Amino acid sequence: MSPLPENTLIGMCNPLLDIQTTVEKSFLDKWGLKENDAILCDDKHNDMFTELTKDFTVEYIPGGAAQNSLRVAQWILNSPNRTVFFGAVGKDQYGELLATKAKEAGVNVQYQINETVKTGTCAALINGTHRSLCAHLAAANTFTQDHLQKEENQKIIEQAKYFYVTGFFITVCPPAIIQLATHSAEFNKTFTLNLSAPFISQFFFDKLSEIIPLVDVLFGNEDEAAAFAKAHGWETTCVKEIALKAAALPKKSTKPRLVVFTQGPEPVVVVEGDKVTEYPVTRLPKEEIVDTNGAGDAFVGGFLSQFIQGKGIEASVACGSYAAQEIIKKHGCTVPSVCKYH
Ligand code: AP5
Ligand code: NA
Repeated sequence: MSPLPENTLIGMCNPLLDIQTTVEKSFLDKWGLKENDAILCDDKHNDMFTELTKDFTVEYIPGGAAQNSLRVAQWILNSPNRTVFFGAVGKDQYGELLATKAKEAGVNVQYQINETVKTGTCAALINGTHRSLCAHLAAANTFTQDHLQKEENQKIIEQAKYFYVTGFFITVCPPAIIQLATHSAEFNKTFTLNLSAPFISQFFFDKLSEIIPLVDVLFGNEDEAAAFAKAHGWETTCVKEIALKAAALPKKSTKPRLVVFTQGPEPVVVVEGDKVTEYPVTRLPKEEIVDTNGAGDAFVGGFLSQFIQGKGIEASVACGSYAAQEIIKKHGCTVPSVCKYH
């Protein structure tokens, strides 16, 4: 049993049901999608979802970035309700399925339920070893700050010591993010944020910049780091340099900012204050790679499972890499039934 108290880590993001299938490059071209990207869909993609469910064999997999990470963290912690999830779903089958799967994994799901808008979905289109994500947020997009003001959720927020919010949520409800981050700073807790996708830095940079001073731990991959650098006008694509600059950005509290950038099979770059460390990744043999969908989310889940227990950065990165590899060996962000991590 983990000695961690219940509700130690709060995650907040879009709960989405992934509709996963394999497609040809021509399908991506037809719908204006890149091979390796994550975007929000617009009206022109409505027919794409219809085509997918009609003409393709699809798998429905619980998704949504932070919810993936929390499911993975719970799998490693092996003790229910150490993590809580806030996000919005519709009052429908998809929402129920997401709640069931998250609860089975041990996550204390506290959804805001929208009676009139459908649960969000995300097309996860696999093309070779690449994957293109196209999210239709629907109910997830209707999350409001009121949800955090509810008495039972106020209690959970008081109990929590760590917060994990995705950049994806910046498109939905920045005031809710600021609320959690401000609370975290005020009570000397730890607020963590993921850059999530290049489009967040490209199109939501002002909102992102309002949150950064409150961020104690910043996660991202190399593409997201590059987009973040570009938005700042930093003329570099060197991941280490970007991580150093990100760590040095103004910060509300005196705690040094930790920056953790993954780069697929290349070393994980960690900056703590002004110190850079690279943690090598053990490359998985090609034949063991099923799909990398969810690798980044799993990394964060593994990392946080240790970090919230006060374990050091090295142990947190090691567990992050372990979790990512387990997910890469399976379809989507799913884990084997038993966790062998010690
Ligand atoms: P997706 O972006 O696929 O998940 P991810 O977890 O970010 O996976 P990536 O493949 O992008 O990984 P990464 O590049 O971040 O990490 P890296 O390759 O560096 O998103 C999946 C989910 O996003 C879906 O469920 C969807 O619902 C959700 N989503 C999409 N849009 C959304 C929205 N608007 N709102 C909310 N949710 C949304 O790898 C990380 C680590 O993995 C490495 O450090 C390493 O340890 C390991 N690793 C990677 N490659 C290898 C390798 N070849 N060998 C060994 N280890 C490896
Ligand atoms: Na990612």
